[in-house]
Amino acid sequence: MLKKYASVVAAAGLVTLAPSAFAAPVATASSPDGNVKVELTIDGDGRVAYSVSRKGKPILAPSKLGFLFTDVVKLDRRISVTGQETRDFDETWTQPWGEWTSIRNRYRELKVHLKETTAIGRVFTVTFRLYEDGVGFRYEFPEQPNMPQANIADELTEFAFASDATAWWKPAFLWNREEYLYNKTPLSAVSNADTPVTMKLADGTHVTLHEAALVDYSGMAVARTDGNTLRAALHPGAGEAKVQKKGAWQTPWRTLIIADDAAGVYQSHLMLNLNEPNKLGDVSYIKPGKFAGVWWNMIKGEWSWARGPKHGATNENVKRYIDFAAANKIPHLLVEGWNVGWDGDWFGNGYDMDFAKPTEDFDVKMLVAYAKKKGVRLMGHHETGGAATHYEKQFDKAFKFAADNNYMVVKTGYVTDAAQMEREDADGKKFREWHQGQWMVNHQIRVLEKAAEYKIGIDAHEPVKGTGLHRTYPNYVAREGMRGMEYNAWIGGKNPPEHEANVVFTRMLEGPMDFTPGVLSLKGSEDSDILSTIAKQLALYVVIYSPVQMAADTPENYAKYPNEMKFIRDVPTDWQETRVLNGEIGDFVTIARKERGGEGWYVGAVGDEEARSVSFKLDFLTPGQKYKAEIYRDDDDADYRTEKRHSIIIESKDVTSADSMDMRIAPGGGFAIRIVPAK
Ligand code: NOJ
Ligand code: CA
Repeated sequence: MLKKYASVVAAAGLVTLAPSAFAAPVATASSPDGNVKVELTIDGDGRVAYSVSRKGKPILAPSKLGFLFTDVVKLDRRISVTGQETRDFDETWTQPWGEWTSIRNRYRELKVHLKETTAIGRVFTVTFRLYEDGVGFRYEFPEQPNMPQANIADELTEFAFASDATAWWKPAFLWNREEYLYNKTPLSAVSNADTPVTMKLADGTHVTLHEAALVDYSGMAVARTDGNTLRAALHPGAGEAKVQKKGAWQTPWRTLIIADDAAGVYQSHLMLNLNEPNKLGDVSYIKPGKFAGVWWNMIKGEWSWARGPKHGATNENVKRYIDFAAANKIPHLLVEGWNVGWDGDWFGNGYDMDFAKPTEDFDVKMLVAYAKKKGVRLMGHHETGGAATHYEKQFDKAFKFAADNNYMVVKTGYVTDAAQMEREDADGKKFREWHQGQWMVNHQIRVLEKAAEYKIGIDAHEPVKGTGLHRTYPNYVAREGMRGMEYNAWIGGKNPPEHEANVVFTRMLEGPMDFTPGVLSLKGSEDSDILSTIAKQLALYVVIYSPVQMAADTPENYAKYPNEMKFIRDVPTDWQETRVLNGEIGDFVTIARKERGGEGWYVGAVGDEEARSVSFKLDFLTPGQKYKAEIYRDDDDADYRTEKRHSIIIESKDVTSADSMDMRIAPGGGFAIRIVPAK
């Protein structure tokens, strides 16, 4: 049900400047529940700053606003307020798929209109939206004669944290884009970081700094300038200006989620709420579900994407994988290396890739028909190698091919160095673009819009960071954008046991991740060990959210684990409700989710390298109802460091909403529980 109201309180007029540094509050507003408060001040030089507090405690000290341009004087002082207004908003909207069906969007908005007092007299508005669990703000520039075009060298927005904190962050501007492990350091030791950055303050308050609705702008990293102050550091593009805008323009929302604990940060809907509603209309063609893949053997180096004796995407292999998917009620099968372009060393082959031309040993018509008979749909793969314009030139034929062959999702890829995305202009001149630069940000949206024309979903690897655009484009089903399971195939590059407990409270705040869980063999290349127990692999289906979730291991390996496989078969990928029951960043987390269209609950927990116990109440279950809990847990001797990493106990228990559970997690372990009404 939609409930919406808006009231406008306007207070226009010029405000007198105070002589001292940031002494005079010129505008202030609080969230509807009164918890989160923002205050705008202007100092004697006319420099504008905002500060944020929660429950009376300062989160951000006065933090400056402004822009540096490549060609005109910067905009950061001699500014006055020309007017301001507030407005309240409250509505509940529905997600076509997701972790929650229904989402409440309740905020108070404060708009502060500003103008330079100098001859240039540029005008802009800063709009704040205050939520119970944080704040988002953006700059809005109307079309104006004194600034017909903005060539932005950098954004001068500061985030001056009021105290030091522990920060979990990953480095920005490095060649491997977002695929780095998280650092845990004092905030005062952060250098350049890509957002989200999550912090724990001394009193336990958790804060995540990120952005929402990244459209026609470059991605915002942050760089520490001094003490606990971070400043926006935009990703570059091919041109001198990091961002170019014409006419009226606005920035993405700069966001702070603020909560009492780590669980509270995960449960925030602030980022989704700050995005525009669904632009695509009916997206019922997106049906959440699992997928298998002609994939893990390539990642391990046993098969090749390229044609030749080791080619993975052959008719024979694909048919065998379709049989496996059908037998396990897995609706999709990803096939990589099915198309012409991979031959030789495919790194850098972007210009050879043809996304409508299968190799000779991949008979697409026969395979699609074979799959259809068994209730399986193939899932396409478009590895662009970073040749992004070359990809755009193929859009129509590529997505038509996908639609004609009954695909629901295409997995895209941009494997290349950070600044080697290639754009071509109309004359064929090539430019290097950064992965998170303005041009690539817009490229990703062009992919989504084109795919939507053909009713195709997108699962982007090496993507632009997630900023909640899956609300606006609900065919954006998943992204990689972090070190996923593939790193566990590689000797010397494996994800440590704490990785997922970091990722939940950082990367996962960006939205769904194609992490590719479920490698039950716990083996990568050359039989190398994955640093996990088998129970943890099952837990990942609940802990790491994606509406399209992979069963990443090979059919031969899954055949060795029929009892564990039952959980992968049973676990859904679309949720009515999600509750983070407990968790500490990098240590452990337990998440409970209720399936959509059913009464079943699924609980997953992962730990780090230490053994630990966690307890939680089952009070999310319906009172009076009897349930059966199917438990997959680490056995007492399970340990990711030893041959006992496969040691698991699978057992059933009768439970009700009045019960609690005490569960042990082994080193590198976890547990998964399916709770269904007792018959
Ligand atoms: C990297 C992706 O993450 C992986 O899933 C894919 O198989 C390779 N690129 C090849 O496109
Ligand atoms: Ca990747």
